Amino acid sequence: MSVTASPPAVRSFCITRSAKIVSRPRVVMAVRSNTISAASILTKLQKDCATPLPVLRHVSDAMADDMRAGLATEDGSDLKMILSYVDALPTGNEKGLFYALDLGGTNFRVLRVQLGGKEERVISTEFEQVSIPPELMFGTSEELFDFIASGLAKFAQKEGGKFHLQQGRTRETGFTFSFPVKQTSIDSGILIKWTKGFAVSGTAGKDVVACLNEAMKRQELDMRVSALVNDAVGTLAGARYWDDDVMVAVILGTGTNACYVERIDAIPKLQGPSSKSGRTIVNTEWGAFSNGLPLTEFDREMDAESINPHEQIFEKTISGMYLGEIVRRVLLRMAEGAELFGHSVPEELLMPFALRTPDICAMQKDTSKDLEEVGLILYDVVGVNSCTNARKVVIDVCDTIAKRGGRLAGAGIVGILQKMEHNSKGLIFGKRTVVAMDGGLYEHYPQYRRYLQEAVTELLGPEISRNIVIEHSKDGSGIGAALLAATNSKYGHDF
Ligand code: BGC
Repeated sequence: MSVTASPPAVRSFCITRSAKIVSRPRVVMAVRSNTISAASILTKLQKDCATPLPVLRHVSDAMADDMRAGLATEDGSDLKMILSYVDALPTGNEKGLFYALDLGGTNFRVLRVQLGGKEERVISTEFEQVSIPPELMFGTSEELFDFIASGLAKFAQKEGGKFHLQQGRTRETGFTFSFPVKQTSIDSGILIKWTKGFAVSGTAGKDVVACLNEAMKRQELDMRVSALVNDAVGTLAGARYWDDDVMVAVILGTGTNACYVERIDAIPKLQGPSSKSGRTIVNTEWGAFSNGLPLTEFDREMDAESINPHEQIFEKTISGMYLGEIVRRVLLRMAEGAELFGHSVPEELLMPFALRTPDICAMQKDTSKDLEEVGLILYDVVGVNSCTNARKVVIDVCDTIAKRGGRLAGAGIVGILQKMEHNSKGLIFGKRTVVAMDGGLYEHYPQYRRYLQEAVTELLGPEISRNIVIEHSKDGSGIGAALLAATNSKYGHDF
């Protein structure tokens, strides 16, 4: 059975759902030959997804090698290793009113923050979140940027209370744009490609800050973009504001990415003046990594039918947009080939992306004997009637996919740390080093988090891993972008 390729609906990773039974017209399909058992499909899946220590080690070593290759030359590796132009991180001295605009998934967020320097730190913040109508994800660049500029303009109009702009100044904003961008300066960058299900026409190859500036002009909004940052970079800056040991940031949400603090002399491809600090943040765009990943036929089929085949393979294996879809594909095979859910296959199970990662996460939370919640979710979401044994198989499938994702993400983190340690012996593994994590997948999926941590500990051993602190930094990227707007303010640091 071939599943029609349609652009996946991206939904934000939010795990609260009511698993209520809804009655719906259900179209059923005849089952094909029943030649294999669900147990044998599961066993093969577990074998293909296995991540024993040698596989993890291969992935972390390959990640470090790909990073080096990407730092040596442009297009030298799957990993773009994008220079962020963030050479100075927030110190705590930042003062004044700054905005941030965050575009990265199904929602965009606007935020303002009043910074009060070392003493007062963050005096006040306010934010609003607006969901992006799905049609805009497939529309034109102008439509998308007009929509976000108008949201920002409306938000700016409501400024008051504890927020005040110093006289004679133009409002400044950080722009978190969570797609691969080739930065050309701290406040400009060319979109390389869309990811995470976006397919907006007319933006690739363009400066996204220019697109935003033009849209702001159309909205008559007088605001200057002082910093263009990726969400991983924003997270690192936001976490570093509170903790000097933060050296790496990782996003595990709808999509995935990682960035870290690199020494300028370890970046052969860097031309032109080097940073005063001798360091800079590098955005790895590790979602494009692909070397030696344990992939299955389900991954390959999903990739082939995606809107970006052969791209973002690590992202498609470990991130929130895809885990539920991989599980759905396995369940469909079990339903069609092994009658896991009886003689028929509900139409809903045929729909790409019908099962979301929050659904598999919610099912894994069910510890009841009959797995009642699992039954409800299966019925509610993919129209499946299930017995307890079938539900157990479903949980095993979810666990296999979450385990592979979490462990591979952990191996990726170790790859980055290894690369950093290699350059600066002892400065990473020999002292407290913090990896700031953000994203709904990491935040809401406890099993995934546990698998990630286990892989890090297995790879580094108990002693070194005690120094590596993996810390959730919730919504750090918005405030991080506002802080970077402050650090890169045209009014300088002379507040
Ligand atoms: C994008 C990255 C982004 C990540 C997390 C990926 O699809 O390529 O730029 O940081 O998602 O949002």
